[in-house]
Amino acid sequence: MTIPKSPAIPEKIQQAVQRDYERFAERGGPTILEDYLLEDYGLDISAEYAGLPLKNPWGKASGQLSMTARQVEEDVAAGMGFVALKSVIAEDPTGNQSMGAWAIQEARMVTERILGQSGETGWTVTWKGRGWWQSFDEYLKLIGDARRLASGSGTMIVPSCKYHLPSSEESEWRKEEYEYTTQKILEAWQSGDQSSTASSTPMALEKDFSPTLAGSDRASAQEKILEWLRVVPRLVREAVQGRPNGDIRIGLKMFNALFDDEFQLAMLKAIHAAGVDRPDFYVYANRLFAPDREFDGHKGVAFGGPDLSDRNLRVLDRFTEARNRSEVVEPPINFSATGNIATGRMAVEYALRGATSFQLHTYFQLPADQYSMKVGNRTQRALHELYFHPETGFIVWLFDTALRMGLPSKPLRFMDVARTTWQ
Ligand SMILES: Cc1cc2nc3c(=O)[nH]c(=O)nc-3n(C[C@H](O)[C@H](O)[C@H](O)COP(=O)(O)O)c2cc1C
Repeated sequence: MTIPKSPAIPEKIQQAVQRDYERFAERGGPTILEDYLLEDYGLDISAEYAGLPLKNPWGKASGQLSMTARQVEEDVAAGMGFVALKSVIAEDPTGNQSMGAWAIQEARMVTERILGQSGETGWTVTWKGRGWWQSFDEYLKLIGDARRLASGSGTMIVPSCKYHLPSSEESEWRKEEYEYTTQKILEAWQSGDQSSTASSTPMALEKDFSPTLAGSDRASAQEKILEWLRVVPRLVREAVQGRPNGDIRIGLKMFNALFDDEFQLAMLKAIHAAGVDRPDFYVYANRLFAPDREFDGHKGVAFGGPDLSDRNLRVLDRFTEARNRSEVVEPPINFSATGNIATGRMAVEYALRGATSFQLHTYFQLPADQYSMKVGNRTQRALHELYFHPETGFIVWLFDTALRMGLPSKPLRFMDVARTTWQ
C-alpha cells in the first residue's frame, strides 16, 4: 500500500491537530500524551518492541545521543517509548576486545543536508567515531543509572553491544566475549531494577552490525555475513542460559551491506529461517556506507537521509512480496524501524511494512530552528513535530492510513496498522 502526498482526514481532526500543534509549540504538550491522544483523538498509540509492550512507538536509536544519564533523563522526561543506549564493544574477562577497532572516540560530528538520488533532501550526520570508547565499567554504570532514571516512567531501556564477528578467514567465534559481556550487561540491567515486579521483565538487547562494518574486510563475503546472523542469537542466549532472570530478548540491528538489494533480502530470509536460532526481534536497517567518501582525512563514511529510507522501504516491500508468494513461510519476527524517520509520515511508511516501533538518531540532532516548539528539551521539541505537524505528523497520517484501510476506529490503534501487513 502506498500512501498519498497529503493526508485525507475529517476537517474536525485536521483542525484539532493544527490547534494543538500551535498551542503546544508555545507552552509544551500534555503531561501524559498517550492519555491525551486516547481521550481527545480516540487514538491508541501503544506499541511493541522486542515483542514487549511499549507505551508509544518512539525510541532513541543507539548512538551519541544515548551515552549519558543526563541524555536518558531528558528522553524519559519527554515520554519516549524506549531508549537504546550507545553500543558498547564486547570484551572478555581480561579486557580484550576483538572488535576494538570500533572503540573510537568521535572528534567532530557534522549535521548536514543531504540530497537523495530521488531528488528529495534530508539530513545526515557525518563523523568518524564508532562505538563506546570509555571503559566497560562506565557502560555498566550507565545501564544501571538509566534503568533507575526510567523506573516507573514506562520508558524501556535497551543496552546495545557490538560482539566479535569472525572474518572470512576465521572460523572461531570468541565465545568468551559473548559470555562475559552479556552476563555483565544483564547484571547491570538487573542492578538498576527499582520495582518489585520488573525483575520478571526480560531484558531486550540489540546486537549492532554497524554500517562501518560494511566497509571492513570482515563483511566482504556473503556466506560469512549469513553465518553471523544465524550464530549470534544462539551465542548471546547461551551466555545467560540458566541464570536467574536470564530471559533476554536478543535483537539483530541489521546493516546495509555493500551488496545489492537481493542480498539484503537474503539476510531477512536467513534470520526468519534460522529455526531455534532466530532472533527475538530485529531492527531494520542501519545507515548506508560510502567507501570512497572522505571526512576529516578519513576515507569511508556512513550516511543516512532519503537514500537510506528509500532502500529500506524497497527491501521491506520485496520481503513482503516474498512472503506473499510463500517464499518465506515462517512466522514474522517483530521489528523496529530505523533510517531517515524525520516525520510521522515516514514512520507510518515503516509501520505499513510491519514495524511496531521506530528508532531515530539524526532527527534528534537537527539545528534548533528546525523545531517550532519554543519550550522543553530537544527530545520534546522533536516529538512535538513528529506527532503534531499538521501535514507530516504521526497523528494525521495514522488517521489517514487507518481510515483508508477501514480499520476499527473506537479507538483507532497504531498496532492495527502495524499488524495489517502480516495477516
Ligand atoms: C553519530 C551516530 C552514531 C551512531 N552510533 C551507533 C551505535 O553506536 N550503535 C548503533 O547500533 N547505531 C548507531 N548509529 C545508528 C543509529 O542508531 C540509527 O540507527 C541510524 O543513524 C539510522 O537512523 P537515523 O536516520 O534516524 O539517524 C549511529 C548513528 C549516528 C548518526
